[in-house]
Amino acid sequence: MSISVVKAQQVNVAKAFASAAKQTDVLIKNVDSARKIKSNLVSPRTVENGQFKMVTSKDWTSGFFPAELWYFYEYTRDKKWLALAQKYTEDIKAEQFNKGTHDLGFMIYCPFGNGYRLTGDPAYKAVIIQAAKSLSARFNAKAGVIKSWDHNGDKWKYPVIIDNMMNLELLFETTRLTGDSSFYKIAVTHANTTLKNHFRPDFSSYHVIDYDTLTGKVLQKVTAQGYANESAWARGQAWALYGYTMCYRETKNKAYLAQADGVASFILNNKITPADGIPYWDYNDPKIPETSRDASAAAITASALYELAKYSTSSKKYKAAADKIINSLSTKYTAKTGANYGFILMHSTGHRPAKSEIDVPINYADYYYLEALLRSKKIRVSG
Ligand code: GLY
Repeated sequence: MSISVVKAQQVNVAKAFASAAKQTDVLIKNVDSARKIKSNLVSPRTVENGQFKMVTSKDWTSGFFPAELWYFYEYTRDKKWLALAQKYTEDIKAEQFNKGTHDLGFMIYCPFGNGYRLTGDPAYKAVIIQAAKSLSARFNAKAGVIKSWDHNGDKWKYPVIIDNMMNLELLFETTRLTGDSSFYKIAVTHANTTLKNHFRPDFSSYHVIDYDTLTGKVLQKVTAQGYANESAWARGQAWALYGYTMCYRETKNKAYLAQADGVASFILNNKITPADGIPYWDYNDPKIPETSRDASAAAITASALYELAKYSTSSKKYKAAADKIINSLSTKYTAKTGANYGFILMHSTGHRPAKSEIDVPINYADYYYLEALLRSKKIRVSG
């Protein structure tokens, strides 16, 4: 069943935000209780084997929780959410100096970028700029990409994952904030190299591309979190869609728009996804339909489609598909108030090959769900 639709039911943003806010009140209570026991655990990540799981600021998902609080503040303009967002954002600050990961876009830009956009606080601006410097230190000019991971050195030399497209937004913003074009140039070079090497002819994306930094050549095209090297891992497709949509916004390069349109067609025309629009965790898992969905991939996709609808000639189709996904998430994938340890959405898949986070709530699903709700409120489409 393809999820291309002409018109979907209008999203009830007010209702969805109101119930998400009640859940998040519960989540905050759980966070504060957990922190009394271990204060270095700053952010709620998931629930696994019935256990509420918190992470330190070093975890790649640490920024999503405070960033969600910024979205509640944006929607309500209630000072309660402002104070909460400010408080929990502070806990991630140390990561601006972290040169051991590519994930600084997620960790720093989601909370501090939203915080700066909504308050103009110069302290947040300084953190964003430092984080962009740290991230840029991972760029290799010969390969033309930012290195994603330092782990598993026996498996790959210089791995770059499709997810890394998301971190480029931090670099684009830093050029705007500083006037220093070097960040912009790194982002564009990374996006161009990824466009050349990460995609198959049907616009589906590989997960990991390994580079030789002496020659710049591709050494291998493999997966880490997907079903197989040649499969299409659902969240990877969502990162690709969001990443090239954002790169088009930042550069107006038509090649990025064409890429985003291509990835959207892979996602929306795929007959594997059920009628509710929430994909299985990997489009090629042979166990489908007896396998897990990934609500996080759906939320990221919906948010990206609302933005792509502003730029593409397929505006109406994209908005309708995003509405359909968000209607499904807000009716069938949300937890009852008080359940799910306060996480908003259920049924995401983090890392199935590692038997980790299968059919669970995950903080980034909630973050992109709230972002999609905010975007759905603003969007006007014509085409
Ligand atoms: N960026 C890691 C993931 O999507 O699971």
